[in-house]
Amino acid sequence: MVSGLKHKLFKKIVSGLEGVYDTREAENIARYYLEDKTFENPDTAEGIMDELAMDIIDLRKKKPFQYVVGKAYFYDQLYHVNENVLIPRPETEELVYISNKMIGQQMTDKLNALDIGCGSGCLGLSLARSCKVIKKLDLLDISASALEVAKKNAGSTELDCEFLQIDFLNEENWEGLSGYDVILSNPPYIDTSEAKTMESNVLDYEPHVALFAEPPTLFYEKIAKFSALSDRKIFVAVECNPIFIEKVVSIFEASEAKNIIVHKDLQGKDRHLTCNYS
Ligand SMILES: C[S@@+](CC[C@H](N)C(=O)[O-])C[C@H]1O[C@@H](n2cnc3c(N)ncnc32)[C@H](O)[C@@H]1O
Repeated sequence: MVSGLKHKLFKKIVSGLEGVYDTREAENIARYYLEDKTFENPDTAEGIMDELAMDIIDLRKKKPFQYVVGKAYFYDQLYHVNENVLIPRPETEELVYISNKMIGQQMTDKLNALDIGCGSGCLGLSLARSCKVIKKLDLLDISASALEVAKKNAGSTELDCEFLQIDFLNEENWEGLSGYDVILSNPPYIDTSEAKTMESNVLDYEPHVALFAEPPTLFYEKIAKFSALSDRKIFVAVECNPIFIEKVVSIFEASEAKNIIVHKDLQGKDRHLTCNYS
């Protein structure tokens, strides 16, 4: 896009967002928007302006700009996103980093990994792309529309990926889920009582099936039970709600996990747990 037009669009977005966002936030949104937006009809200024006007209406309603442009950065890569998947979070990038490092220290063979509640696929795909010992990745989600996004993000990757539409909470569905060396998950972990304190851009747009669990530690009970059933050595890495971290630790302890480590995120919160089963 020529820089004169880009500047004009930038100013239009910032003024369009006036009254909803402060100037600094509006400028940031405008910058991200213009960086990632692919206009359907980029050859005509009218086409661009019409599309921009529609997007400004959505942005004024606090629709996250990642959903407006259909993309989000995660671990230095651009992922497709839409309202059927959680917008990838920086904390989850930290889980990729931790897992990559720990797997590199512990495991050398070809590994099979499972991402439980994969959403856009950002967690499993980023780890598998950066951790060369992972040879096969299964991406599991209850939502068929989330799996469509994950498939798009896997693209024509050299990785051997399988996409599984499964309700993981139903243990009858575990039959056939076996042979994993690495289990990853950023499961739904928000207590419904927290909803009243959440921002409308999250609550009104992100899928509630990706956010809330009742009780909020339910997925960890299932992940620990599932991992303990395996006859292989397993590395487990999960993202957690810092509020319930003690409960999550006790769940993994009760399932006889070893080397349980709680990792703080960059904000100093107890955000991730890793452990092993042997
Ligand atoms: C917090 S999101 C995480 C998405 C992605 N892994 C990420 O880190 O951005 C949780 C995911 O779990 C999925 N999910 C919710 N309930 C599930 C269930 N019972 N079985 C399998 N997946 C489930 C949701 O559809 C959602 O994609």
